[in-house]
Amino acid sequence: MGREIHGNPHLSHSHPAFLPLLPLHRCSRSHHPPVSRQRPLLTSSHSLEPPSLNTATPHSTHGTVRPFRLDPVPRHVGLIMDGNGRWGQLHCGARTDGHQRGVEALRQVVHASVQWGIADLTVFAFSTENWCRPASEVAFLMRLVTSALRAEMPAIHDSGIRLRFIGELEALPPPMQACLAEAERSTCQHTNLNLNVALNYGGRREIAAVARAIAHDVEAGQLCADDVDESLFAAYLRRAHKAAHNDPELIIRTGGEQRLSNFMLWHAAYSELYVTDVLWPDFTAADFAEALREYARRQRRFGGVHSRPS
Ligand code: FPP
Repeated sequence: MGREIHGNPHLSHSHPAFLPLLPLHRCSRSHHPPVSRQRPLLTSSHSLEPPSLNTATPHSTHGTVRPFRLDPVPRHVGLIMDGNGRWGQLHCGARTDGHQRGVEALRQVVHASVQWGIADLTVFAFSTENWCRPASEVAFLMRLVTSALRAEMPAIHDSGIRLRFIGELEALPPPMQACLAEAERSTCQHTNLNLNVALNYGGRREIAAVARAIAHDVEAGQLCADDVDESLFAAYLRRAHKAAHNDPELIIRTGGEQRLSNFMLWHAAYSELYVTDVLWPDFTAADFAEALREYARRQRRFGGVHSRPS
């Protein structure tokens, strides 16, 4: 049966499949059946007010909205949150203001993901190449991620979100590493959404690391070279991601650039790409809904002739 979301996903009170507004960690996993069985309906995007992670209370009502069927919903969405620097320069003169506002956009998208039954959301927060930015911007980003995480932890717990961090975390400042480890530990029982944050992450570096790990295991006699195939490689990658998630069905990039920028290179082989000119700080739950709607329109043939279910 379909699930209908009117405007703000909080606001579908009248629909039989309305998602309750209780803090999600008190709800059973049954609110999130396998997404392939979910058939949400989203609404015309202009009326969609982004929900806040900080409140479980509907904060406005909307008039008429025209719902549309969303089928299928991606289980795993990757997000390249680009355009912060440009937004900051455009609005305030400082790139860092864009990063700051980017946290607000992320909060809304994370909350919408929980409400809409997305299982995994992987966000690109800092790449292996981002170190070449001015030292002050790098330091700002490190502080921002740490402080945003600390500030959001109560809402993250209330929403039943499990945090995982992927990338070469050992190169991050030690206090930040401690914060990330604690966030992973304290959320490890949550099941409403896996929020994977890529930090000091590079797709090529990750592939090279897996190749190295496999070579070591072959050298140690734990593997035969002939055992190495795509599924073994993918299993090593899942271990690096501390997760059993599937490849992202959809990767969204904001800020208009049409490239992957070293994001999930292995996993993106058959991901649907959605690029929008909207700069990340301006990206709302309504824009997210539009990306999901576009995804639902795509035909995924995986090199074959017929569309295959995702
Ligand atoms: C790219 O925009 C954005 C980043 C490198 C940082 C993104 C990080 C956040 C939004 C904070 C995430 C916070 C948590 C807690 C995970 P850009 O600076 O490259 O933009 P530009 O293309 O306009 O220069």
